[in-house]
Amino acid sequence: MELVRVTGGASLSGSVRVRGAKNSVLKLMAATLLAEGRSTISNVPDIVDVRIMNELLRRLGCSVTHDREQGVVAIDVPRSPGVRADYELVRAMRASICVLGPLTARCGSAEVALPGGDAIGSRGLDLHQSGLEMLGATVRLSHGYFVASAPDGLTGADIRLDFPSVGATENLVMAATLASGTTVIDNVAREPEIVNICEMLVAMGARIDGIGTSRLTVEGAASLHPVDHEVVGDRIVAGSWAFAATMTGGDVRIDGVNPSHLDVVIEKLELAGATVETAEASLRVRGPKRPVGIRVSTLPYPGFPTDLQPFVIALNSIAEGSGMLTENLFEARWRFVRELARLGAKVRVDGHHALISGVTKLSGAPVEASDIRAGAALVIAGLVAEGVTEVSGVDHIDRGYEHLVEQLLNLGATVERVEVPDPVDVVLHE
Ligand code: UD1
Repeated sequence: MELVRVTGGASLSGSVRVRGAKNSVLKLMAATLLAEGRSTISNVPDIVDVRIMNELLRRLGCSVTHDREQGVVAIDVPRSPGVRADYELVRAMRASICVLGPLTARCGSAEVALPGGDAIGSRGLDLHQSGLEMLGATVRLSHGYFVASAPDGLTGADIRLDFPSVGATENLVMAATLASGTTVIDNVAREPEIVNICEMLVAMGARIDGIGTSRLTVEGAASLHPVDHEVVGDRIVAGSWAFAATMTGGDVRIDGVNPSHLDVVIEKLELAGATVETAEASLRVRGPKRPVGIRVSTLPYPGFPTDLQPFVIALNSIAEGSGMLTENLFEARWRFVRELARLGAKVRVDGHHALISGVTKLSGAPVEASDIRAGAALVIAGLVAEGVTEVSGVDHIDRGYEHLVEQLLNLGATVERVEVPDPVDVVLHE
């Protein structure tokens, strides 16, 4: 079993480069299924989720090459791709669900395993299903799979999402590009990753109006063509570094991200006492001696991203005064809180609110990552804890953070990855 072992005390200093967003690249890769031929995606981060997506596309009959150093994935999509995304892969990476829309639209059918609940809540898929049904597909559940069928192709429709779901917006906009006629999707998500995929679809020949607004109008085309497209910089990874700089009283320049994608995050960090300077594709964050507690509510973009909520709780746990985090997207994102409590954080959870009283120092302890962001936030919390913190569940971190330990070392942290015996073997001795 692998651990990240952090020794607290360092304040981070230097610069760090962020590559493309996990939450964008996976969808762009799925979008290549819409056109026969070779598409390339650049600015691809070297993370495990990309490797899972490579494998999923290969099993659908694509030939995929990935230059991990250059950050380029080339995907050759056949004339008739396979249509089944197995449970094994969907379970490993929930974002696999984003092949449902493109496969149904291009191949007239798709079988995609249901991911089930995960560590941050139940995460329904009803909007994906009802949206595809409005486009004329039949979608049924069979033996744990969504089975979608549209043998005569999809037809444009007026769809209104009850909630601006990121995944449903992506699946439906992809599907609509090959539907006959016009599709209007109202109350869509407006995340920069949605803009990124819409721009890619337009470059493939799709006609989409309203990109970046909450209403997308898509004129269906008979076919799309392959494309070369770049992934938007990862605002969540950049935000993670910005929190790390603020919490450790550090001075970090973060390159490779559009700071306007972090407007509300920067506002909150400034309230916590950080000094933030922005440039076109970078930001510099200088932390205060000790941050001040902040109140944050997570909301769909342009609101505060739910994926940064563990960092808000971690920051508040060492802040002067108290802070509050209200989680409005996922109902069960609290496993992280129990782990942070092992480091001495004082957090009280009440419904979807977490109230945090700052302590002057956390104290290092073994903790376990329950999801990608929780994992990274625990490592950062370890930087401001006295002594040694050992974070297990490293596989979660590897799904979304490229070379986290190496990057931390470059910024002056005392941190290493270590291989240790599995705890069950240690306890059982047999
Ligand atoms: C994506 C991101 C995730 C981020 C989230 C919200 C990826 C791979 N993941 O997840 O990191 O935290 O956006 O910014 O891009 N919902 C329904 N029915 C649906 C769809 C969603 O009830 O059909 C609910 C979910 O249960 C959840 C909320 O809507 O409570 C948000 O989900 P959604 O925006 O779809 O997030 P994901 O696309 O799963």
